[in-house]
Formats: sequence, structure tokens, C-alpha cells
Amino acid sequence: AGDSVRFAPLRCICQVLSYARRHLHESGLLRNKAATSRPPRDKESNEMSIRDTQAWKALEQQLEAGMRDVHLKTLFQQPARFKTFSLDAAGIQLDLSKQRWTPEVRENLIALAREADVPNAIQRLLSGERVNLTEDRPALHTALRLPRDAKLEVEGVEVVSEVHATLDKMETLVDKLLDGQWRGATGKPITDVVNLGVGGSDLGPLMVTSALSDFEVKNAHEVSTHFASTMDGSQLADFLSWLNPETTLFILSSKSFGTIDTLSNASTALDWLAKRLGGDEELIKRFHFVGVSTKPEKMTEWGIAPANQLLFWDWVGGRYSLWSAIGLPIAIRVGMDNFRRLLAGAHAMDEHFRTAELEENLPVQLALVGIWNVNFLDIRSHAVLPYDGRLKHLPGYFQQLEMESNGKSVTNDEQQVDYSTCPVIWGEIGPNGQHAFYQLLHQGTQPVACDFLAPINRYNNVEDEHFREDLMAQHRLGLANCFAQSRVLMLGDDAVKSDGTPPSYKRYRGNQPSSTMLFDSLDPATLGALIALYEHKVFVQGTIWDIDSFDQWGVELGKKIATETEEIIATQQGLDSLDDSSRGLIESIWRGQQG
Ligand code: F6P
Repeated sequence: AGDSVRFAPLRCICQVLSYARRHLHESGLLRNKAATSRPPRDKESNEMSIRDTQAWKALEQQLEAGMRDVHLKTLFQQPARFKTFSLDAAGIQLDLSKQRWTPEVRENLIALAREADVPNAIQRLLSGERVNLTEDRPALHTALRLPRDAKLEVEGVEVVSEVHATLDKMETLVDKLLDGQWRGATGKPITDVVNLGVGGSDLGPLMVTSALSDFEVKNAHEVSTHFASTMDGSQLADFLSWLNPETTLFILSSKSFGTIDTLSNASTALDWLAKRLGGDEELIKRFHFVGVSTKPEKMTEWGIAPANQLLFWDWVGGRYSLWSAIGLPIAIRVGMDNFRRLLAGAHAMDEHFRTAELEENLPVQLALVGIWNVNFLDIRSHAVLPYDGRLKHLPGYFQQLEMESNGKSVTNDEQQVDYSTCPVIWGEIGPNGQHAFYQLLHQGTQPVACDFLAPINRYNNVEDEHFREDLMAQHRLGLANCFAQSRVLMLGDDAVKSDGTPPSYKRYRGNQPSSTMLFDSLDPATLGALIALYEHKVFVQGTIWDIDSFDQWGVELGKKIATETEEIIATQQGLDSLDDSSRGLIESIWRGQQG
């Protein structure tokens, strides 16, 4: 890599930093408090805590009356638990029977949802009301998956036609690439597309392209997609060591078009192209860069040709944006028809969310069992465990979706919450986790709620019969392990009949709650529904916790301080203003880099 990849010249980095500083000013982060204070709420301020509701109190009583300590093996003495706690919608079967709850607990949780006004909140979300209070705007990711003939007017603007106009522009671009008609500056067809984005402008497309690897477009002309997000440049440096500049296209994906991580990668990529292709920068930008953002003026200023710009809207949250043009890498990898199927699957879940009674509503039920675990059973760790290697990026994707949305501690009335909110979300491909951290799940001291996810069918499309049988046997093995693990987590030692009592170090206490999601196969529509299920779960939980699930002020201070710190490291000025640890670390950098 050393020869072909060099850091962009200092000039470029400085430009990027001054650009990012300007972005911080424009986004209000460097403004005074008055300028960033929240708009007034559109409903009457009500300082009552959710803990004061009747339903919350009833749930606390149930807890004290035995639910706190009841073991899942006892709960499973109730007949037909699977039937009682299984739900089905939009191709997803959800088994909540291995949760530590009863029909009576569930009834009170539903009452809690009603007291928190969840049914109304759902309608307000879907109709485009300003549910993102601190940023005073709607959160309308669901509009991105409305069918072409739907109508949704938001604050005087018909959004569905705008959404589909962008999808059509995206389709033209995708077709051009996949037909080998998009050529680089030297006239050769593009063969590799690198997405430069971070957070929501990276994780969603990264997760979906991997999950839908079976649906890759098979064309005479092949286009591969790659993802580089980290600001330290290590991912990009790796790609640039072997990619051909003549046939590489970069997508600059950034809602704000001001994120230093993405802009610094873009600057390095531009420098790499310019060094290898020569010629003028404008030409290189026209043939080798596409931009996806809500900020056309910033894209133009950077040099993205208007024809290469795909727009979306500020009412799409970054972590909810894979359905917009941010999904361009997905469409390039699986084709526009499959991208539209993904949208349709999510829309099917939206419709279910909008119309189903709370009792039958998958996102609501998933949310409520999470509330029960976090706020009553005190389980604040939540593992996502897919039993399908294609879903390897799902835990990372859910981390942003859940923790950036609901990792909050101030209510919509600016009160400090007096209850827990988002649990810590983590996870891994289940079969790999079995050889890493399941030991802790089975015998550690932490209660952890687990989500098991698996497709029922796999490898039906493999043509070679013998190979297909081998792979199907492997899939069966995966499913068997998935079910075995959730069973042992539930029952502990009672999962097997044994003669005598094993020594304590061989004991399994069980009673770790889990949900299992099964779906017929991992196809675009099902994946769309699955993601939408979790998006809506997050919203319902945020509604009950009375927090704004659509802002992310907690990430901003770090960005501001990093910009200032970078200046201190580069200029060697201002060290005295820092704390002792930061000073010591920076001095180590200076010493180390001199040596
Ligand atoms: O740092 C948090 C964040 O603002 C996320 O919410 C967002 O998805 C990510 O940064 C990237 O932002 P952008 O798309 O504006 O570059």
C-alpha cells in the first residue's frame, strides 16, 4: 500500500478542517445557547413522569408480586405459551414466549402504551408532524417507501412525487453504471464504486448490501461496491492500494455534507485520483464523484457536478436514511428492482404498524417487552444474534439505530428522566458468538436480553444439487444451534435430563429472556420489513420514555472538541488550555512523531 497511497497534502487537510469548522458554525454548534434553544412543544407541557401512570404502578406491583424472580421454566408450565406470544406480519414471525412475562404483564404494558399516547404518536409520525421536537421537524423515513401512487402532503408540499423523482434519477444513474456506460476520465467503464460516508451514511448501505449478497446483479459488466468510513483513513488506504483509479467512482454520502470523517476521506480520494490520472480536478470530479446529501450548495461548492448530485430531505434522519438516495450503493449492488422491493417490504411493515391493534402490533410488542426488561426486570444489556452470516453488520447497524435514537436522559419537557432508557445494544453472528461471549450469557453475572434472528429457508437457489444439500445441512445446523441456545438460555440445566446434580461450575441457571424472529428467506422485501420493525420499535420506546428519538445532540460536543484538539496538535499552540491527561497524550504524539 505504501507506494500507491500517501496522505493527502497538508493543504487539502487544512481545507477540509476549515470546511468542517465552517460546518460547525453553520449547524449552530458554535453559536450561543439562545440560538440553539428548542422550539416550543406543539402539545401542552406535561411534567408528569411515565412512572406516575397507573399502568406503570400496576407493573411494579406485578414485579413485587413474584414476577421479579419467576423463572422462565415456571412460566413455561402455562399451556400454549408459543401460541399466546407469537405474532406474524409482513413476512416476519416473532416469538416472544421466551420473555419473562405473562399475559397479565402484557396487558399492563399495553395499558402503559395507551397512557403514553402511543396510538396517537404513531399517527403523528406517519402523517409528517414535527415529532423531532429539538430540531423542529418531521421524521418521515416512512415517506421514502410510500408507493408511487400514494399521496402525502407535509406542510404544503407533496412529498411522494419528490421521493419518486429522486428514485427515478437514482435508477438512471444505476442503469448507466451497470450497463458499463459510466466511464472514468480516461474513457474506461467504472468497475468499482467506493462509498465514502459514516454513521447513517455508511452503516445502512453496508449492512443491506451484505445481507442481500445473494441478490447481486449478474451482468456482463460487473460493478463492485466498497465502503470506507473511518476518518483515520485506514479502510480507504487499503482499497486505494489495489483499486484502479481509471475505473473507480466515489460516492460522497453525507446528509450534512460537513462531516470531517467523510470529507477527509474524499480529499484523500481526490488527491489519489489527481496524482494518478493527471488532468484537471474539475474533470476528475465530474467523472469520478457522485454526491448524496440534503445540501446541494455544499456539494456544488466541493465540486460535485449537479448531474451527479442526488438529494434527500432534512426530514430524513441520518440513521433512517438507507431508504433515500443514501441507499445508492445498495441499488448498485442488487439493482433498482430489488431496492424497490426493499422499500416495499418496509412499507408493508409501516402499514402493519399504522393499522394493527396494539395487541397484534409487532413493533409495539417488541418495544413493550423491551420496556419490561429495561425498566422493570432491570436488564440493560441487549444482544442481537443473527444466525445467518449475511447479517454480520446487523448488530452494528442496530447499535446506531437504537443507541443514537434512544440513548437520552432528558424528557421532551427537559426534565431529567427518573428511569432507564436505551439498553446497551451489542451482538455478533450467533454461531461465532457461541465461541466467544455465550459463556457469559450462560454462566456470567449479567442479565442479557437476546434477539435471535434466522431465515427458515436458505440455499434454495444453489444450482449444483450436491453442493446445495451440503449447504442446506449447514443451514439446518445453524437453526438447530439457534433454537438450542435460546432453549438453554431459557431453561438452564433443565434443558437436559441428568442423573444427579452437576458441580456448580457446570451449572446453567437459565432465565435469560430472548425473542426469536423467523422469516421465510432473507430477501429484499423481508429485510425491509425487518429493519422497519426495529425502527418503529425504537420510536415506540422513545414515546414511552418521553424522549426525542430523532435528534443526536450527544455526538456534537465530541466533534467540536476534536476540531479544536486537531488544531492544537497541528499548530502546537494552546496546549495549556487542556487537562493534564490530554496534555500528556498530545506531548507523546509530538515526541513519537519526531522520532
Ligand atoms: O455523528 C453522528 C451523525 O450525525 C449521525 O447521526 C449521522 O448518521 C452521521 O453523523 C453522518 O452524518 P452525515 O450523513 O451528515 O455525514
